Amino acid sequence: MDVKTSTGGLSEAEVAARVEALVGRMSLEEKIGQFTQIGGLSFFIGPKLEEVIRKGGAGSVLWINDTERFNALQKVAVEESPSKIPLLFALDVIHGYRTIFPVPLAMASSWDPSVAERAQAVAAREARAAGLHWTFGPMLDIARDARWGRIVEGAGEDPFLGAAMAAAQVRGFQGPYVGAPDRVVACAKHFAGYGAADGGRDYDPVYLPEGQLRNVYFPPFEAAVKAGVGTFMSAYMDLNDVPASGNRFLLRDVLRGEWGFTGFVVSDAMAVGSLVTQGFARDGRDAAFRALSAGVDMDMASDTYRQHLAGLVEDGTLTLDDIDAAVRPILALKVRMGLFEQPYADESRLAQVVALPEHREEARRAAQRSMVLLRNEGGLLPLAKSLKNVAVIGPLADSKEATEGSWMVFGHTPAAVTVVEGIRAKLPGAKVEYAPGPEIRRDVVSWFDALNPDARKVPQTPEQAEVAFQTAVATARSADVIVMVLGEHADMAGEAASRASLNLPGRQEELLKAVVALGKPVVLVLLNGRPLSIGWAAENVPAILEAWEPGSEGGHAVADILFGDVNPGGKLPVTFPRKGSHAPLYYARNLTHSPESSPMYNPRYWDGPPTPLYPFGFGLSYTTFSITNLQVAAPQVKVGSAVAVTADVTNTGPVVGDEVVQLYIHQKAGSDSRPMRELKGFERVTLKLGEKKTVTFLLGPAELGHWSTSAGKWVQDAEAFDIWAGADSLATLHADLAVVR
Ligand code: BGC
Repeated sequence: MDVKTSTGGLSEAEVAARVEALVGRMSLEEKIGQFTQIGGLSFFIGPKLEEVIRKGGAGSVLWINDTERFNALQKVAVEESPSKIPLLFALDVIHGYRTIFPVPLAMASSWDPSVAERAQAVAAREARAAGLHWTFGPMLDIARDARWGRIVEGAGEDPFLGAAMAAAQVRGFQGPYVGAPDRVVACAKHFAGYGAADGGRDYDPVYLPEGQLRNVYFPPFEAAVKAGVGTFMSAYMDLNDVPASGNRFLLRDVLRGEWGFTGFVVSDAMAVGSLVTQGFARDGRDAAFRALSAGVDMDMASDTYRQHLAGLVEDGTLTLDDIDAAVRPILALKVRMGLFEQPYADESRLAQVVALPEHREEARRAAQRSMVLLRNEGGLLPLAKSLKNVAVIGPLADSKEATEGSWMVFGHTPAAVTVVEGIRAKLPGAKVEYAPGPEIRRDVVSWFDALNPDARKVPQTPEQAEVAFQTAVATARSADVIVMVLGEHADMAGEAASRASLNLPGRQEELLKAVVALGKPVVLVLLNGRPLSIGWAAENVPAILEAWEPGSEGGHAVADILFGDVNPGGKLPVTFPRKGSHAPLYYARNLTHSPESSPMYNPRYWDGPPTPLYPFGFGLSYTTFSITNLQVAAPQVKVGSAVAVTADVTNTGPVVGDEVVQLYIHQKAGSDSRPMRELKGFERVTLKLGEKKTVTFLLGPAELGHWSTSAGKWVQDAEAFDIWAGADSLATLHADLAVVR
């Protein structure tokens, strides 16, 4: 990490010297002010923002998105506060600032880390031009329960893919070092285990044994530290009965002690104050003490540190050394970011940066590479551009909000190209009719809906919904080909957006059945932020494209794929369960005494198999591929050494296309039971007709070892392994490998 942060022109020693000079002249109140991240939303502000900043009472501001306001507040900080320390402006820029990219779950579906890196570089350039310094991303929580709404913000269920996407996003946001021009500081969140909330219910407690944490939930976070991430965010929920924001094991022992992280930790919003609500801390004073001692340096929006830390120092519960240790990394970041030299943003810059054509091009390319073809019976896709009469049906088909997806940037107005617009642009001479059908909405609103004008619209009456339904069927009846655009609205996945079912919300499936019953060719395009249980569609709709929430250029990208200008090559980063009640469902489960392959297999449920509807790693193409010739360079490898594994991939079909070659392992016996499959390598390759490439993966101690529950430490067992290579997690091409001493 130090290597990365020290290449920005300032040496570690220079940064340290400047920080010590500041620490030497700051009062205790000012130091505590640096720990305070103050929320700019009117209902969170007690005293006026300016008043707090003038006294040196805030180190950072969030929930404001206004360049002029940034400059005005910064002026107060650098001209009127006692030590004139500039503010850090922070916001959630999760998948784009103005140019919106596919949601992170979609970017993970590209299985191409460069997609995520390039997207976040564009997001950073726009955000920095607007005057932001710091984004609360990437979200690195492994999510194996599709009911959990925040699955949309991460890279899915797998630690290996998750780690690759984590590092790529950190590089994209931050560039080569913290403080690089046109970039922002990243924040690895939410440390740790948030995705394993009981029942997929957001914020609920998490119980994860250390082996699960270390083998599954930590790897993306460790990868972010290795990539030089500047900050971390502690999670909300209880982890094994200790809230993550008061959790010394996470924040001190692992993050700083083992991984050597030298940046700073911000709490999640209100999480320091919530230590009281969660029944952990006695009162605000106790919460401040326990969060700071556990390793939370900055209090996001709860104002608990500002109110209580000085008292804790005065009565000797905390020492000045404790305070200085926590303030140093915050000041160091401000020094590295060059804020003392250039605290202000150029108010004319955002418009120039946003207008750069390459931003839209990157967004379109990212969306194209993120989409996953789930079904294409009889080669219905690609559709002919000579079509004259197309119907586009569904509540999301012309929704800019659903196309941009969850985690909209504060104050941003969605401006995406919708699927209807994309198809109309692709077929300028054709009749493209659109009918939304009945609207869809959440049964229970969330607090966030207060910020979402769409969610506050008066709901349709059942009679209006019926008219919309019949209009949609009639529109479909008069077309030659029907594109149904169904799924979830933007507010149906994300924070406070968990659900018990994974079915298509509202009357969407009923509408789909009515349209399919017309007997015409139907293509289903899904816009959604989580796996959906689309069992009926999977058997009855000939072509299904998982487009996720594809961002500003989403409609164009969908049309590019539907009409064959782009051949889809994305793969699922999560398992699609047949039912919501099958969650959590993921591929890397342990074997049992009654495995599916056994003649004594006993069904897990008597009301239907819990096998995936679509497995992890799955995705089709307009061409076909064969993966052959799996070779392990040597039948044996010594503990501590690496062995090369190769496989050939050939495009055996009619057009150029992309395949993602995936490598899975299974340790057959040893100190612990190990998952029946674990991804340990992948590569997305583009192949011309008939072209063949050899892909090479390395299996070394990092891939072949694991955290052992039996031994209480990292081990690499000398044992036999299965190796598979293929196009998804059900790959059958097999080889053996023995690890020996
Ligand atoms: C979310 C975080 C987010 C923060 C600031 C919280 O509610 O959990 O992911 O970064 O708000 O907006």
